Amino acid sequence: MLQKPRGTRDFLPDEMEGRRAVEMKLREVARCYGYREVCTPEFEDLELFTMRSGEGIIEEMYVFEDKGGRKLALRPEITAAVIRMYINEAKVAPKPLRWCYFADCFRYERPQKGRYRQFWQFGVELIGADTAAADAETIMLASDMLNATGVTYELKVGHLSFMKNLVKDLEPAMQRRVRAHLDKKDYEGLNATLESLNRTDLAASLTALVNTRDLVEAFEIAGAIPEKERFEQTIKSLDAAGVKYSLNFGIARGLDYYTGMVFEGFAENLGAENQILGGGTYRLAHLFGGDDVASCGFAIGFDRVMVSLGDIKSAIVPVVGLVCTSEGRTRALVVAKALRDAGIRTEMDLMGRGLGAQLAHAAKTANFAIVIGQREAESGQVTIKNLLTAEQKTVDLAAAIAEVRAFGPG
Ligand code: HAM
Repeated sequence: MLQKPRGTRDFLPDEMEGRRAVEMKLREVARCYGYREVCTPEFEDLELFTMRSGEGIIEEMYVFEDKGGRKLALRPEITAAVIRMYINEAKVAPKPLRWCYFADCFRYERPQKGRYRQFWQFGVELIGADTAAADAETIMLASDMLNATGVTYELKVGHLSFMKNLVKDLEPAMQRRVRAHLDKKDYEGLNATLESLNRTDLAASLTALVNTRDLVEAFEIAGAIPEKERFEQTIKSLDAAGVKYSLNFGIARGLDYYTGMVFEGFAENLGAENQILGGGTYRLAHLFGGDDVASCGFAIGFDRVMVSLGDIKSAIVPVVGLVCTSEGRTRALVVAKALRDAGIRTEMDLMGRGLGAQLAHAAKTANFAIVIGQREAESGQVTIKNLLTAEQKTVDLAAAIAEVRAFGPG
């Protein structure tokens, strides 16, 4: 028996309905903030990602050559593609642009709970606003979106300048290595790297920075950072808007394109793979031949949110099993159309079953049975049976539709 590829999943209808319900909540919050959906290709030129996505991601990519010898990659994330599209299609559009997406990404990782080779992100990119207000609004949106899903989480906000300031006299490659250690919370590795450079002094300040939750103390440790006022302003706006977050100056972000403010969300009930959101301010456009536009965005790891939420009961939508005899079939087709036109999910027998077997099937799959026999075909009425209460009556079609509708939304 053939199986699905490692790290991928199948979703049965119950699970898909739960996923769609949560996706719709995310969409609604993004819409209220003015975000409009975009869509980019599932695969891109490899170069798009090798230019600035960080070494981790490059190792994890699905890379292939097409029949024309082009080097392509399945997208490991969507930010780079969105910025490429912005440069290709929308450079002159009025700023800021507020774009969102809900799409799948591919990373060749070791699969485990909450870590997949195909996974979905709900992301937003705010392009062309370079202010504290933009940074704060993006974090507010992240917080509102996670709140809308009902997930229990912690939001951590930091700024890369603190760490960058401390390591600024290291070689760029060493700076990147320090950042990678911090991103993986690999403090042993960090100490070893700094020891090999004879910079144990840095280990002490970096540890102090990672551990403090206090802005004033962070400024004392890191010294005069650029964007000090902007970051203070961002924090003030978050407080004014009542956003729940904590400061964390150890956030390093795995992708290389971030420039300043960074933030991450963590679900409380997940194990090792508990990061459900990541984002920050970044610059990518200049790498792809565009203007050096400042952007800010984040992506929610949709699958992890779903794991954290557990079983989702989607809204109860009534289902009608339309049951008929052969004499009633013509009339039943008219009734089915009327029910479907009224937005009611209606299923008719396609198996050539007799009346009893149709009713038994409806009892397993529907909330109501509507029966059309010869009597109903002649009278123009329908017999409706509530399959929960077993209550049955013969009424006009309009009354039956009203009764089904009253059962639940839809
Ligand atoms: P990222 O942190 O690499 O950022 O991914 C965002 C989220 O995707 C993670 O926080 C995590 O929840 C989820 N995720 C990542 N890898 C996997 C996986 N293998 N399986 C399941 N979920 C996963 C980005 O991708 C940036 N593009 C975010 C961004 C948008 N920054 C600015 N704009």
